Amino acid sequence: MKTAEPSFPFRLDTLREEDIPAVMDIERRAFSLPWNAGIYRYELRYNALSFYRAIRTSGPPLPPIVAYGGIWLYAPEAHVSTIAVHPEFRGLHLGAWLLADLLVEAARRGAQEASLEVRVSNVTAQRLYLSFGFRVVGKRHRYYSDNREDAFIMTLRPLDITVLEQRLFREERIVKERWRARAPDILASYPS
Ligand SMILES: CC(C)(COP(=O)(O)OP(=O)(O)OC[C@H]1O[C@@H](n2cnc3c(N)ncnc32)[C@H](O)[C@@H]1OP(=O)(O)O)[C@@H](O)C(=O)NCCC(=O)NCCS
Repeated sequence: MKTAEPSFPFRLDTLREEDIPAVMDIERRAFSLPWNAGIYRYELRYNALSFYRAIRTSGPPLPPIVAYGGIWLYAPEAHVSTIAVHPEFRGLHLGAWLLADLLVEAARRGAQEASLEVRVSNVTAQRLYLSFGFRVVGKRHRYYSDNREDAFIMTLRPLDITVLEQRLFREERIVKERWRARAPDILASYPS
């Protein structure tokens, strides 16, 4: 008997204030210097220069969101303020899907280049950024207050909207393929 394919539970959406508890759950597990809920509340409520996106799930038993990220728009520059994926949902290309979505939206709003800071030890995130064409252009010494670690400054220019839209499309396809392969294992840890 053929087993039914697991349905695809993810969709891109705007991050909202009511998502903050779910964000905090991921944030605390993703960063050694997590932002607190007040920072997210400020960003979502008052920062007119920023926007935040999320990957939402179909809901219980899955967590409500599995990834989120944001951009500060200082036209012509889009600065990636944060990006994180729920630890149990990493390696599915959700981070790449979300980053493509953030950069497409930034380009649609007029950004011509993107920048970010990343810990020199965070090779995982660096590989993600390199795969989009980001390049290391400098270093901020002792940037992180917890361990005085340096940050690489990475930039991507130009932001080519056509290339990014193609990437967005391709990443959704990869997430779907990887989900098909890994859903049984992941769902096993989320019994309904
Ligand atoms: C960085 C992060 C967002 C990546 O999210 P993810 O959904 O697991 O990554 P993806 O599945 O989209 O991976 C895309 C590419 O990134 C690279 N990558 C991702 N995980 C990797 C790992 N564990 N080791 C090496 N490279 C990795 C690979 O090039 C990968 O492509 P591939 O799988 O086809 O080889 C996630 O690890 C995370 O939330 N980390 C903690 C928070 C963080 O460090 N944020 C960035 C701050 S600057």
